[in-house]
Amino acid sequence: MADVNQVPVLDAGERLDAPGLRALQLERLRAQLRHAYENVPFYQRSFDEAGVRPEDCESLADLSRFPFTTKADLRENYPYGMFAVPRDRVRRLHASSGTTGRPTVVGYTDADLSMWADMVARSLRAAGARPGDVVHVAYGYGLFTGGLGAHYGAERLGCTVVPASGGMTARQVRLIEDLRPRIIMVTPSYMLTLLDEFERQGVDPRGTSLEVGVFGAEPWTQEMRREIEERFGIDAVDIYGLSEVIGPGVAQECVETKDGLHVWEDHFFPEVVDPITGEVLPEGEEGELVFTSLTKEAMPVIRYRTRDLTRLLPGTARVFRRMEKVTGRSDDMVILRGVNLFPTQIEEIVLRTPGVAPHFQLRLTREGRLDALTVRAEARPGATPETREAAAHSIAAAVKNGIGVSVAVEIVEPESLERSVGKIKRIMDLRG
Ligand code: DLL
Repeated sequence: MADVNQVPVLDAGERLDAPGLRALQLERLRAQLRHAYENVPFYQRSFDEAGVRPEDCESLADLSRFPFTTKADLRENYPYGMFAVPRDRVRRLHASSGTTGRPTVVGYTDADLSMWADMVARSLRAAGARPGDVVHVAYGYGLFTGGLGAHYGAERLGCTVVPASGGMTARQVRLIEDLRPRIIMVTPSYMLTLLDEFERQGVDPRGTSLEVGVFGAEPWTQEMRREIEERFGIDAVDIYGLSEVIGPGVAQECVETKDGLHVWEDHFFPEVVDPITGEVLPEGEEGELVFTSLTKEAMPVIRYRTRDLTRLLPGTARVFRRMEKVTGRSDDMVILRGVNLFPTQIEEIVLRTPGVAPHFQLRLTREGRLDALTVRAEARPGATPETREAAAHSIAAAVKNGIGVSVAVEIVEPESLERSVGKIKRIMDLRG
């Protein structure tokens, strides 16, 4: 486990006081709005249509007068239409997979890449990493921002990086055994896949050199934190980000408090809005997270709708506000007979149920005119038929009582559900 008593060295941004931070944000926000308006025809059009100009932003609250930007806007301007600098100043591109429709492309100048590395280095430090640590990066390398984002941040902090990427799970275990990393960066679902592989190879997962896991790229619950911390004997902390804003390193949980993620708001300004009306919600209320970049050159984003649901909370271990662990994306919300349900709610229940492993899948089907949901959870090896039956009953009852809807539950054989190598897909939609 990390030594939480060690005093972290803070960078200049983290040492700001609250008034200093607000002043810096306003100055940067005004410059960023100008940069977007003057260099991206899309922003010029959208600001003009909304009847606002960059100079109308005289306070941080004035940001709410500016129009939102959505994923659809990015798609429509594919590939280079959102860039605010000439293409030859763009040093790197990343892209989303584009499973639904056209992909989206994001770009970075040299300065953007450097800021990104600084933010991931800051995140790693908050997670308990120190210069000289060996960092095993099992986020995928490539167009996905996870691998390369983590990589350059760990180098920036002065760590020794093992660029393992995702996949080849047996070899990952070998690398962890031989290279003795103190830190691992990986999706929580792939960490569970690694856990299986440790056990398959007869290696004690609690006996490794690992002390801290920096987990993100998908929603995960406190129950999952407990499971991973206990099974590996490590500290598990949350890292958040999205490619449109920068990639990993937009917000990070501190290892000494584990009380939500501090948003690095000297570079990324957060708002939480009502997902339907778009109205800005007061601190503490749950809604959709919206980000405005404050310092980006290649691709500034103004009021970008993330579709992630969370709430903003005051700072604790840092001056920056925190965001609560993300409950889910509005896209992953299942509406079942009028009741909203998120995969994380099922995760909480499954992980609290004796006799089942932390592996589950949600199957959506249609029965007549009604949608039906089946929770498929895996039995732990050795679970008796009685335990399995009790588990099925207890999951169904907890969903009914806690969420308010009836679901079917199937307890399937150990090792029978597909394992994740990156971001896990929880919902199988078979409604045709
Ligand atoms: O997933 C960037 C990333 C890589 C973050 C590695 C953390 C670690 P995208 O592929 O653009 O970027 O996906 C972004 O993933 O809008 C959330 O829905 C989800 N997400 C990312 N981090 C978290 C997290 C990367 N810690 C989308 N908790 C975001 C919950 C997360 N959801």
